Amino acid sequence: MSIPVIVDCDPGHDDVFALWFAAGHPSLELLAVTTVGGNVPIEHTSRNARVALTVAGVEGVPVAAGATGPLSRTLATAEWIHGENGLGGPELPEPSEPLDERGATELIAETLLAASEPVAIIATGPITNVAILLRERPELADRIREIVWMGGSTERGNVTPYAEFNAWVDPEALAIVVASGIRFTMVGLNVTHHALVTPAVRERLAAVDNRTARFGDELLEFFCRTNDEVFGMPDGPLHDPVAVAVLADPGSVELVHTRLDVELAGTETAGATSVDFDGMLKREPNAWVAVGLDVDRFWAAVEASVSRLA
Ligand code: RIB
Ligand code: CA
Repeated sequence: MSIPVIVDCDPGHDDVFALWFAAGHPSLELLAVTTVGGNVPIEHTSRNARVALTVAGVEGVPVAAGATGPLSRTLATAEWIHGENGLGGPELPEPSEPLDERGATELIAETLLAASEPVAIIATGPITNVAILLRERPELADRIREIVWMGGSTERGNVTPYAEFNAWVDPEALAIVVASGIRFTMVGLNVTHHALVTPAVRERLAAVDNRTARFGDELLEFFCRTNDEVFGMPDGPLHDPVAVAVLADPGSVELVHTRLDVELAGTETAGATSVDFDGMLKREPNAWVAVGLDVDRFWAAVEASVSRLA
């Protein structure tokens, strides 16, 4: 029995692989996609999500645009990794399907109401859309199976010394979602930095040799180059599909039930995700936090999903 999922994303190279993983894996049923301003402005993330589905031959999955930026801060984007249009590298085809005229909140709400069982939300960007949904439609909370989010870190950040990008863009939204009481899983840099696109991984995915894999290889060429230039990481960490793995192949990601808090006020630490593994603060556990990844099993699942696409 497959798990119904909604992916909320800010494509972004790694978001595209998360969409393909969710669309191609037999354990998941991708019901809808929503987009948020993050890596690049919403105009690009909304087009890029549709491009990702078009390349993969995925039809009939609505894509709706959500928040242009964070709840109360000013959006800072990440063209330095993803390029001006958010999918630097390949020439982008025209999306085969139009943007859904509903906004993200309306599409998520209607998808939750229409589903025969609670739906999982996989968020791979700033989690603004999910926070808005919970604020505007609190009665739908029990129709959400769980929320799995790529973001945060139990260690260092990647946009400031202590904050990961998705958390840093909208920490207020993250605090709202964590406090909602809906099962919440954080997949942070501490784990996604093991999902490295090594030359062997590039070869493995390229060997799938379908349209999706060929387009994906052009994405990875660009993504690894910019990660090398910016972070000195020529084997770019493919963050977002690790969040999908939590649901697609739960045995591949080790989780710990612990305490997660978000720094909102810090001048140097805003967006830091404080994970209290040792219970020092004597607060109730409120989140599941990824602490380990079976790397080969993860890439095998990504490869299998891509091979099921166009
Ligand atoms: O810090 C990495 C995260 O920020 C990824 O989701 C990437 O796509 C960007 O959104
Ligand atoms: Ca992302």
